[in-house]
Amino acid sequence: MYYPDALIEEVRLKNDIIDVVSAYVRIQKKGASHFGLCPFHNEKSPSFSVSGARQMYYCFGCGAGGNVFTFIMEYENFSFPEAIKLLAEKAGVALPELEFSEEARKKENKRARILEINKEAAKYFYYQLRSERGKTAHNYLLKRDLSEETIKNFGLGYAAINSDELINYLKSKGYEETLVIEAGLASFNERTGTKGKFWNRIIFPIQDLNHRVVGFGGRVMGEGEPKYLNSPETIVFDKSRNLYGLNFARTSRKNHLIICEGYIDVISLHQAGFTQAVASLGTAFTAGQANLLRRYTEEVILAYDNDEAGEKAILRAITILKECGLTGRVLDLSPYKDPDDFIKEKGKDAFAARLDEAENSFFYEISTLEKNFNQNDPEQKTRFHREIAGKLCNFAEDAERDNYLEAICKKYNIGFDNLRKLTLNYATRTGLAKPISRPKSGMKDKMSREDHARKAERLLLTWLSEEPLLYGRIRKYLTVDDFSSELYQKAAAKLFDGFEKNASEPAAIISLFTDEDEHREIAAIFNTRLNELNNAGEREKAFNDILRTVKKNSHENLTARLGTDVGALAQALESRKILDELMKLSIKIN
Ligand code: CTP
Ligand code: MN
Repeated sequence: MYYPDALIEEVRLKNDIIDVVSAYVRIQKKGASHFGLCPFHNEKSPSFSVSGARQMYYCFGCGAGGNVFTFIMEYENFSFPEAIKLLAEKAGVALPELEFSEEARKKENKRARILEINKEAAKYFYYQLRSERGKTAHNYLLKRDLSEETIKNFGLGYAAINSDELINYLKSKGYEETLVIEAGLASFNERTGTKGKFWNRIIFPIQDLNHRVVGFGGRVMGEGEPKYLNSPETIVFDKSRNLYGLNFARTSRKNHLIICEGYIDVISLHQAGFTQAVASLGTAFTAGQANLLRRYTEEVILAYDNDEAGEKAILRAITILKECGLTGRVLDLSPYKDPDDFIKEKGKDAFAARLDEAENSFFYEISTLEKNFNQNDPEQKTRFHREIAGKLCNFAEDAERDNYLEAICKKYNIGFDNLRKLTLNYATRTGLAKPISRPKSGMKDKMSREDHARKAERLLLTWLSEEPLLYGRIRKYLTVDDFSSELYQKAAAKLFDGFEKNASEPAAIISLFTDEDEHREIAAIFNTRLNELNNAGEREKAFNDILRTVKKNSHENLTARLGTDVGALAQALESRKILDELMKLSIKIN
């Protein structure tokens, strides 16, 4: 689809993984590998390893791994062609025009043009802010306690009163009016013609993870409606998958990220040193955004506005965070209205203290609930306790539920046994926390057999790629068809093909997969870790077990097809024979 394989390989070989990774991560040589702090999760001691010999990286903490392309894709959030382009430029390899289909080429082209338009517009707004006409706007920002440095870092700008100016400017640079409209900077209306979207507003450029401007927010100076205008979604701007400030926050290396509501909140927090702050983009917090955050942190502190709307938004965000496996805490800003306000009045040390005190999200939910019930009325109080019981049922794990139960009882002065009974009652009544219902056994066995087999297949491929000599000993027992999915078969085929030619390198195989999802999965196949096995005997047993598991699963898949597939019988008989043989012998691995 993209570039010729040989060219991809040339780019890969000219970009030594140690050099490339070193530009982003501090790594040190230790034994045969280099080690450093993993850029893909938060950690205090280095478990991120880069091997010059294998030209691959792997994190023992979070399992991230792959070759030099994978690294750039993950770190920069690039597509495969974007990663190639960056590394080709770095190594001075000339790339031909992409062999896209006509349609794909047009789309890629349009994306690039719209990003250019956004960049030009951001520059234009930026200069306006510094011109005579931008004086009022500039002063407005200074009056809001933003420093020149902060204004520059966030690329803040000003949209002049005459909104045609930007459109004409962009046209003079060769961009078609329709594209300016598609970028969200203008709109067309039969009565008025094409009009610029932003006029006489402070401009907040919105950048993606890679600092590319994907959209804009515009605020009136002082009072006025609407207070903010935002770019619509475009082909480069998906609001549910971007967060304002994440391009900076992702490298803040704190053990949490802060979400707030406003652009100004983020900017003022960063200015005060809290570079871990982000904001959702004038829309409600989404699961897509939570998943984005999960790449960088496990804990999110919610610093929403201290008002009724903020409270509702917090409760919704807590649910989303929980569903995405993130821990949430809630920051108390009272008596101030938002983080910007708080910092201005109380300063950064006080804010840091509030961060430390941020409330566990479950306690927060319960205390918002409490306000709905009059605690002096026994009837209402009981209802409150029932509600707590209902919430407690959401913890699937007994130990965790009990810990929360205990803490809540202390906090609200409720008898432990009473609340526990209520919780159990609630559970049985609603069928919620019934003894964990088990899936029908047949179903479950099938699932785990498949997972088990896949794991074994990955282990086998990793092992073979690390010790190619073993291939000669097992090739008569194993074929590409023994792997259970098409993708694994493809990976195995490439690897075995290389073995036959005496030139198999997983790092090279990985880049043959240019579809982003496939690429990541293949990178994982060749990065499955073998548990530390101490002695040769254990290693040999493990290797043989893995091989048998793969073969056994393959045989079972064949027998399952017997009724419908005539070719399967001969194959099944053959694989039975091999399996029997493998059960009897043990392949030497040293
Ligand atoms: N917002 C929006 N459209 C509006 C109002 C708000 O998109 N009409 C979004 C903006 O992203 C804004 C955020 O919601 O940053 C929070 O709004 P608000 O608290 O009203 O503004 P602040 O960012 O706090 O701005 P300021 O401090 O200047 O009042
Ligand atoms: Mn606000």
